[in-house]
Amino acid sequence: MKWSELFTSSIGKKMVMGLTGLFLISFLVVHVGVNSCIWANDNGEMFNKAAHFMGSTIVVRILEVGLFAGFFLHIIQGFILEFQNRKKRGIAYKVNYGNRGSKWYSRSMGLLGTLILLFLIMHIYHFWTPSRLGGIAGIHELQPVSYESGKEIHNLYAEMLSVFQDNLLIVILYVIGCISLAWHLMHGFQSAFRSIGLYNNRYLKIVYAIGVGFSIIVPLAFAMMPISMYLHWVD
Ligand code: HEM
Repeated sequence: MKWSELFTSSIGKKMVMGLTGLFLISFLVVHVGVNSCIWANDNGEMFNKAAHFMGSTIVVRILEVGLFAGFFLHIIQGFILEFQNRKKRGIAYKVNYGNRGSKWYSRSMGLLGTLILLFLIMHIYHFWTPSRLGGIAGIHELQPVSYESGKEIHNLYAEMLSVFQDNLLIVILYVIGCISLAWHLMHGFQSAFRSIGLYNNRYLKIVYAIGVGFSIIVPLAFAMMPISMYLHWVD
């Protein structure tokens, strides 16, 4: 396959979706791991230190550029594929086989992806802009905090508390984002492996089982973060 066909042929496009999808899945593993430090119940010290480490090393900053590029490619290719599929099958399926033909979430990847995109816009506004750009017009300004080394770092934990505590609507929107992510991953995880060429049935069964576990555990852990803060399980 030529390089240009990666972006023009339908197999190439699926491959880009699969590769960027797997890259984003690996990001989710790191993200959920770092964020889980909020449950150390130490006033956010472990979480703030881990988040500071992730934001301060040059390697991670370079990976961050790759991450945004990965999201961008995945979203653009996803929209193109969705648009082409709709055009090919002419607005709606002629005969609706319901879940006998395919699962509803595999037919709704475009919709679920769009919900995740809306979630991400809100999410980047809440956390990434204040931590990297200093916030928008003074809103969400991050307070510094210092631990034994005396060096001041961003208090992202306090930012999380201010976003989620006493803010039921935001917590509900985050939970909806996490549910969309769970369904998107339920199809996307195993589909990514198929798209990059895994055809062996035995391995596909294993990948499917891991995918189901991942799609439940990771979004559930994410959803429990705003819920824990809203219910003051962590303060
Ligand atoms: C629902 C619970 C979640 C919480 C509490 C949370 C919290 C955070 C925080 C505090 C940051 C800023 C990190 C920093 O600047 O060092 C961040 C960044 C980010 N989050 Fe989340 N997150 C959650 C879920 C998600 C999900 C489900 C996704 C993806 C689908 C996601 C994608 C991102 C991205 C792309 C960034 C910017 C990455 C970067 O800083 O390099 N987050 N999140």
